[in-house]
Amino acid sequence: MCGIIGYVGQKNSVPFIIDGLKKLEYRGYDSAGISILQENGTLSTVRAVGKVAELEKAALLSSPKGCTGIGHTRWATHGKPSEENSHPHTDCSGEIVVVHNGIIENYLVLRAKLESLGHRFQSETDTEVIAHLIEENLKHIRTGKQEERLLKAVQKTNKDIAGAFAYGVLWARTPGVLIGVKNQSPLVVGLGQNENFLASDVPAFLQHTNKVLFLEEGEIVILRPGKVTVLDKMGQERKAKSIKISWDRQTAQKGGYAHFMLKEIYDQPQAIEDTLRTARADFGKILGLDTAALRGLQNIHIIACGTAYHAGLVGKYYIEQFAGIPVSVDLASEYKYRTVPHKTKTLAIAISQSGETADTIGAVKKAKELGFRTLAICNVLGSSLTRICDSTFFTHCGPEISVASTKAFTSQMTAMYALAISLGLANGNLSKAAFDKLYRELMRLSKAMSETVKMEYTVRHLTRKIYKAERFIFLGRHANFPIALEGALKLKEVSYRSAEGFAAGEIKHGPISIIDKGTPVFMLMPQGSLFEKMLSACQECRARGAFVVAVTTPGGEEQIKQVVDKVILVPSVSEFLQPILNIVPLQFLAYWIAKRLGCDIDQPRNLAKSVTVE
Ligand code: F6R
Repeated sequence: MCGIIGYVGQKNSVPFIIDGLKKLEYRGYDSAGISILQENGTLSTVRAVGKVAELEKAALLSSPKGCTGIGHTRWATHGKPSEENSHPHTDCSGEIVVVHNGIIENYLVLRAKLESLGHRFQSETDTEVIAHLIEENLKHIRTGKQEERLLKAVQKTNKDIAGAFAYGVLWARTPGVLIGVKNQSPLVVGLGQNENFLASDVPAFLQHTNKVLFLEEGEIVILRPGKVTVLDKMGQERKAKSIKISWDRQTAQKGGYAHFMLKEIYDQPQAIEDTLRTARADFGKILGLDTAALRGLQNIHIIACGTAYHAGLVGKYYIEQFAGIPVSVDLASEYKYRTVPHKTKTLAIAISQSGETADTIGAVKKAKELGFRTLAICNVLGSSLTRICDSTFFTHCGPEISVASTKAFTSQMTAMYALAISLGLANGNLSKAAFDKLYRELMRLSKAMSETVKMEYTVRHLTRKIYKAERFIFLGRHANFPIALEGALKLKEVSYRSAEGFAAGEIKHGPISIIDKGTPVFMLMPQGSLFEKMLSACQECRARGAFVVAVTTPGGEEQIKQVVDKVILVPSVSEFLQPILNIVPLQFLAYWIAKRLGCDIDQPRNLAKSVTVE
């Protein structure tokens, strides 16, 4: 977790860094800090517990100024959130400052060694060893320009430390020079006019430049105001090509909505439209498999975490229905540690919005060791996951800033559907005519989503009645069962209410005992083959005093109204696409309950957007 930002240029770096940190707060927000290299050659460091706004207040008081600086927003892993544990961390001399994201696994051994050499530590963090190691290594590199010495010391430090990390370092003796290191944690470079940026993610500097340089694992980057040098893991200069990011600056901002979560719910028609642009492409090419290999696929393993896992569960229904290939879906953190029988002709699909989730990356590494072909379904260009997978299908949602995932989820399901019908066509499970029909339906999904998001008012109104409930239940069947799980997760995340999702057929096997008078129960029950069964579940819950809300499609409202307290109508699409729309009222529900309860919607307590630690 954690967000890093660095600036080298000709203007005062402080506003760039503070602004960048605000854009990175989704990566963690329990404390923040900046170090600015001032004109008199001294480093001024300001740190504060809490959000970046606290840091901003503190920085206003001490008003540091300088054209080179680094900043950090923290999500604690080693050491509690406190000012001492906030980054930047410094060496004994106070001349070297470091901001870091990731974990230094051997920090305890290194710390003991450095302490025995006389280094004094001020924090409980693993990060601080980096600053002291650079200081120690510099002592042994006596010749060369200061800049060369610093680079050598960083290279030596990288050999000493183990783990997944990205860090930025400034040395008071090398003004106008910022060094970045990337090793299995995200780090990107923004190229400006006589100014350059180092950051954990693109939105941190997108307001200033959309020219981005993605670093490979093990690389070091040296930033100066007019020059950026990338060294590969062998220490050789690499001519890195920049990419122009097409996300417009507004996309990365709230665009007039009160919260990113709300904006991102409304972004969904566009996100689906943009994702489907890729879906029109040839999946054989995306997967890097010829027709014979596509036909020969015998198993699919889906691995993901949280919301992405729920998209994977929906994907299982799609692939088994349309391609007839057996699918297993695993939480990435479980897949990594269970025995996975080795079978040939297996495709492992990793779903991840950020592409930086450590559990998912770990599971993909295992799939690769087992010899499986790997496909990422991912939203972030240049992310770690897309680099380790054999191929990637990008969901083009633009940046998802709210910690609670919404538009990434519906885009991931859309991608899974496109993949499933394409596999079905390729392996002969679907006729061309059947494929064409499914494809046409898919291409109309974005329009149906535009209709669906209009229901905010209905849901908002409903929440007035139920927002104080202690516990919420979500029930669904078939591909709507994962939607029930996702509805519960969304509500838990942003409102801190207790919420559970179940397969509707399961409640009578135990969970029904938690329903009592007034418990809100949301039934995902579109018209279709399982509608009658859902009606029975409504009656079972109503008989126990539940406040039953049916999320359904037009057609059977009159029948439903007799057994539920409230009906929410979602536009009707084909049976397998319906779950992609059905989640929308539950997203609004979570948003409005959290809002009424006064919760911090975009940055819920204890959470961070990218979980880059196991
Ligand atoms: C839920 C949420 C998390 C993520 C999970 C995986 O709203 O955001 O459950 O879905 O941490 O993250 P990615 O998709 O980035 O791998």
